[in-house]
Amino acid sequence: METTSCRCMCVVVCLFVAVLSVQAGSGSSWGYLDNEEGPNNWTAIYDECGGLQQSPIDIVTASVVAKDLGDFTLVGFGADDVPAGAVMTVSNNGHGVVVSMQGDYQVSGADLGPTAYKAVQFHFHWGSVNSRGSEHTVDGKAYAGELHIVCFNTKYADFNEALQNDDGLTVLGFFLDVQAEDNAALAPLFDAISMIQFENDEVPLSPTVVFKNIFPSDLSPFYRYSGSLTTPPCFEIVTWNVFSKPIMVSEAQLMTFRRQFANERNASANITLTDTFRPVQAVDSRTIFLNTASSASGLVASSSLVAMVIIKMLASVLDD
Ligand SMILES: *[C@@H]1O[C@H](CO)[C@@H](O)[C@H](O)[C@H]1NC(C)=O
Ligand SMILES: *[C@@H]1O[C@H](CO)[C@@H](O)[C@H](O)[C@H]1NC(C)=O
Ligand SMILES: *[C@@H]1O[C@H](CO)[C@@H](O)[C@H](O)[C@H]1NC(C)=O
Repeated sequence: METTSCRCMCVVVCLFVAVLSVQAGSGSSWGYLDNEEGPNNWTAIYDECGGLQQSPIDIVTASVVAKDLGDFTLVGFGADDVPAGAVMTVSNNGHGVVVSMQGDYQVSGADLGPTAYKAVQFHFHWGSVNSRGSEHTVDGKAYAGELHIVCFNTKYADFNEALQNDDGLTVLGFFLDVQAEDNAALAPLFDAISMIQFENDEVPLSPTVVFKNIFPSDLSPFYRYSGSLTTPPCFEIVTWNVFSKPIMVSEAQLMTFRRQFANERNASANITLTDTFRPVQAVDSRTIFLNTASSASGLVASSSLVAMVIIKMLASVLDD
């Protein structure tokens, strides 16, 4: 109860702070630079950032516990099931690049519980050089960036209600690794990002991202643990899924991130938005699970399921 009212309070305070900083037209109350607003001082305003179940973490592969979590069921993530009325909007919020999503994008299965989660936005973290930028690390190794797809539990009425509950969110996290060629499936997204260099800039994304075109082909190796939002207010409400296979992008595409600014278009100085990752947090007593592959792709192939059902129905009709 106490945590919940605390969170309500913080949601109100945070909204208030956000409104104030928009009105002031300048920076905001937290950032990634090592100064009074930096990650080491987020707790000055946001209590929960000092908790014992914070994210990101370093995943120590020698300590993970293998567990069969089952396959993800993804609805709306493929070229053949783009949700009706799907809309994506790309914006620079002064802390990073966020793509808001409208449409029925759903994530379930994989031991996430009985209710589906709805994906509502994805965003990126990146570094000024290729050797850093991801939030999670694996045995101390950082990747060039990280993609987070944020989903709220549909047992709650909306995202804001989910924010006040321990099982409110799940995030699909993918590392970004560097290859020589551009990732062609992400070209429209990077074109859009190059148009939103400044805080509060936003553009529609067309065509929308088809996630299965950018995901690694094998989604079954993933790490699962209980953690938090990696930005203030750092609520400890996130069931994390960190996929071990990265998404590949080119350095030229990473440069699009590195040209983002933390200030508005006509500010008196430009502040480069870079190294937008929170340092890793203590694992403390948490267990990090590694899904043990239960199917080849880590996805329930819904079309083959349908085919099987039809075959069984036909078989039973023929039997009769
Ligand atoms: C942390 O933030 C508080 C509140 O804004 C400020 O008073 C304090 O000086 C900051 N501490 C550091 C180490 O920057
Ligand atoms: C920035 O300044 C230019 C020139 O003064 C003006 O035309 C434009 O509307 C301003 N843009 C914003 C976002 O305030
Ligand atoms: C900020 O960057 C933009 C784009 O590169 C440039 O046009 C503008 O003059 C810069 N503003 C300042 C204050 O340097």
